Amino acid sequence: MQKSTDKTATIGMICLDAPPVNALSGDKGIPQAIAAAVQEFDADPAIKAIAIYAAGRFYSAGADIAEFRGNPATDAAPLRSLFEALDASQTPVVLAMHGVAFGGGLEVALAAHYRIAEAKTKLGLPEVSLGLLPGGGGTQRLPRLIAMDKAVEMIITGRPVSAAQALENGLVDALFDGDARAAVLDFATKIINENKPVRRSRDQEIAAFDPAIFDTTATKLAKTAHRNPGPMKALDCLREAAQGPFERSLTFEHRAFDALMEHPQTKGICHAFLGERTAVKIPGLEGQKTSRSMDSVAIIGAGTMGVGIALACMKAGLQTLLLDLKDEALERARANVERQLAGQVKKGRLSQDRADAQLALLTLSTSFADMGDADVIIEAVFEDLGVKESVFRQIDAIAKPGALLASNTSTLDVNLIAAFTNRPQDVVGLHFFSPANIMRLLEIIRADDTSADTLLASAEFARKIGKVGVVVGVCDGFVGNRIFEEYLRQAYLLLEEGATPEDIDGAMEQWGWAMGALKVMDLAGQDIGWAIRKRRKVEQPDRPYSTFPDQICELGWYGQKTGRGYYNYPEGVRGGATNPDVLPMLQAHSIALGLIRRTVTAEEVVERTLLAMINEGAKILEEGIAYRPVDIDVIYLNGYGFGRDRGGPMFQADLMGLKTVLARLEELSKGREGWALKPAAILYRMQEQGLSFADLNAGKTVQTDMQEELV
Ligand code: 3HC
Repeated sequence: MQKSTDKTATIGMICLDAPPVNALSGDKGIPQAIAAAVQEFDADPAIKAIAIYAAGRFYSAGADIAEFRGNPATDAAPLRSLFEALDASQTPVVLAMHGVAFGGGLEVALAAHYRIAEAKTKLGLPEVSLGLLPGGGGTQRLPRLIAMDKAVEMIITGRPVSAAQALENGLVDALFDGDARAAVLDFATKIINENKPVRRSRDQEIAAFDPAIFDTTATKLAKTAHRNPGPMKALDCLREAAQGPFERSLTFEHRAFDALMEHPQTKGICHAFLGERTAVKIPGLEGQKTSRSMDSVAIIGAGTMGVGIALACMKAGLQTLLLDLKDEALERARANVERQLAGQVKKGRLSQDRADAQLALLTLSTSFADMGDADVIIEAVFEDLGVKESVFRQIDAIAKPGALLASNTSTLDVNLIAAFTNRPQDVVGLHFFSPANIMRLLEIIRADDTSADTLLASAEFARKIGKVGVVVGVCDGFVGNRIFEEYLRQAYLLLEEGATPEDIDGAMEQWGWAMGALKVMDLAGQDIGWAIRKRRKVEQPDRPYSTFPDQICELGWYGQKTGRGYYNYPEGVRGGATNPDVLPMLQAHSIALGLIRRTVTAEEVVERTLLAMINEGAKILEEGIAYRPVDIDVIYLNGYGFGRDRGGPMFQADLMGLKTVLARLEELSKGREGWALKPAAILYRMQEQGLSFADLNAGKTVQTDMQEELV
């Protein structure tokens, strides 16, 4: 923060300058410094107006989310003292916003006496999208400045308004173009010249409104309140604001905000927000950028995955070449692309012009020679090492030097694939998730010889096509599918012990998953899982699977694509109906295993599947396949439908506490098929060393036995 005066020495200037996003960090003393500057200027009789503005790309992203450590008394205190200073000022305070004015940043503006905004500014209170509510007086001041229905809309949805809308609804006093410093100086001069008074938002009356808005909004929110507690609590605060007086309802808001800060689901959502920005950073390469261009892509294989990848690239404005050996495959692919774009136009998600522009970026070819100019080449052919070998040898012969060579394999060893080329340093795995144009996750698989620049180029490519690119190491299933296998194993075992598919999926969906494990298998196609299990039987005979899913497959019930699976999929039924044949099959299967079927509770389903994920995640960390626990969380949040409010499996482990995790794993590992839940060694070491997964995210390391001996 910088403090100065204008050349007449009558305007106290305060410049917020805290890159990268002007977050109001209490740890860095930013709100405290602004408050002190306001108080000093206010005490100076020569100062007739105080002008606040910001340096940098935009005005402010709000309070510093990284400082929400669950201790509201200290976490929110510095910001609150700033609002008090603004309210107490006897000198008019003008504040200029540019670019983005979000959260606590906008709340500072609401507490200033006059507000102006650059014409392209977005103004919003997005706290609810973090599971919070505006806790710096936003729920109290906003409805005093704009109509209650507009305030409810802004706060409950978290959606920002444009500067023009803000001017129209009374949120700002004027708009400006260009430099924020010059604009705020002009406005402050005007205030002085026109002898404008101090004008506190807290002192303004709430305009008359229809109180029915609270009940109708509450009814709408009731459906999602169990996933995100923020919006309903924010609505309560707005209701209180209408009751007044300001001081009392402000205290109500502070208490509600403080309670949310300690809420595990809010913590989960904040973890997801910061995690998505951490997991895309490659340790050791932070701040570095590739010099390679990433403007054109060639995709080999025009199947479902190839088309999905092509759509993602076209959406990002990349020249996209789709290659296949057969004309028919390419024709089908083009029809598929056109159908998907037309579908988006029909739903109003895309304009016809943009759809046309995207389609114009697509070229189809049966000639591999055409990929010679591509910056990125992605192989998305059949999952067979022999087929991949032939494709990669051709890529190696044709690709230009420095092209990024990627395989979309989900199961094969990327080291073997890299060895089919004479440039293994340029080879990487790019594991897309189906549908590739929708799912945000991209696992970036680093093979032994993948160069640092290839990783940087992959991360840049992921960013360009709007994906969350997380770098992982080579192992069977990489991070996502390897953990998924353990969690499925438990779901199948629970079926044998007494659960129905509805019990499993119902429990998981109620807890927060977008879709239960068995519904996912029906969606993905049971035959895929069956093929993996057959392979596993040979590769890992000591890790037996339940044979029940095989029985389903033997009947040809592959799920949605065959109309039957764990569920039935008659025409017109969304999400599947009960398959009445499954329960008798399960009962017979349990008898054959000598098991007496029992009631499996929802808590048990959630706990056992989650513990399996945590345990496998811990092994993945131990082996260095994932850099950080948060990378695993981000993979699950973006690729597998893990509830955002649950923060990811490793975040859940910290919520449970390592002691509980270990105790429960030990207990379960004594039970039926307990080998699958034998605790990972790293969990014991973490417990001994008093470490949580959050500590590992913060850079602490787990000492190995060898290191201990050396010490
Ligand atoms: N606190 C801490 N860090 C933040 C932050 C915040 N409020 N907002 C963004 N950042 C960090 C990001 O983590 C990222 O860190 P990195 O450099 O280590 O990767 C960096 O700033 C840049 O962020 P983005 O990559 O998201 O940059 P974009 O330009 O794409 O987007 C943005 C900028 C629109 C401001 C976006 O970051 C955003 O929406 N931020 C969150 C805004 C928000 O939710 N504010 C409310 C905070 S809660 C609050 O204010 C409580 C109050 O009511 C008391």
